[in-house]
Amino acid sequence: MINITIDGPAGAGKSTVAKMIASKYSIVYLDTGAMYRGAAYYVLNKGIEVDDVASVLGVLSSLVMNIEYVAGAQRVIVCGRDITPFIREHNISMAASTVSKIPEVRIKLVDLQRAIASKSHCVLDGRDIGTFVLPNASFKFFLTASLEERARRRFVELTDKKIVTDFDNVLKDMSARDYQDSNRSFAPLVAAKDAIIIDSTALSPGEVVTIIAGVVDAAFNT
Ligand code: DC
Repeated sequence: MINITIDGPAGAGKSTVAKMIASKYSIVYLDTGAMYRGAAYYVLNKGIEVDDVASVLGVLSSLVMNIEYVAGAQRVIVCGRDITPFIREHNISMAASTVSKIPEVRIKLVDLQRAIASKSHCVLDGRDIGTFVLPNASFKFFLTASLEERARRRFVELTDKKIVTDFDNVLKDMSARDYQDSNRSFAPLVAAKDAIIIDSTALSPGEVVTIIAGVVDAAFNT
């Protein structure tokens, strides 16, 4: 299978670009962050704090997650319930980052990610796809941008959704999540040694897609 991995910090533009790549090549887009968000939502819904490792481990075996596609859009199904509408809530971002530090949680979701990637040509975005989930992926990219630009993009997104917030808070939250994602001991956020690094600070999503497609197309034209 052809797998294209796009790792990087929050707000770098991974999901926008990955959706465009999926549509360009008619392949599956797997948003792995949505899976960690689903796990966080599941844990919180059970009244468990995401940093209470013993309690999280206690309910992990009853977490049944499936990924489905409805009209081309990914849905996260947890224990038979489509929880996709709830996982973008602001509090879920940090909760997903915290629950994702637990190796057993990661292994469970990584197994599902690998199973999906082994059945279909895919573009996957996340933090550890090129380093840990699919170290032999056909194409690896690491998409980043300055913290200020990433926070600005997230601020615009929240404002568009009429969510009242303050830029400094968005920047602070993003920086805390970057730190937590990059400093966990198991499969942290880091560029794979063989990933192509793209700094999107001054690039539009279309320009990033042109770079990625240039690499992919060149491999098939040689
Ligand atoms: O991409 P996102 O913002 O939806 O991801 C939410 C959190 O999930 C992120 O802060 C860290 C975690 N995550 C991860 O650890 N590994 C992945 N492959 C994807 C996300």
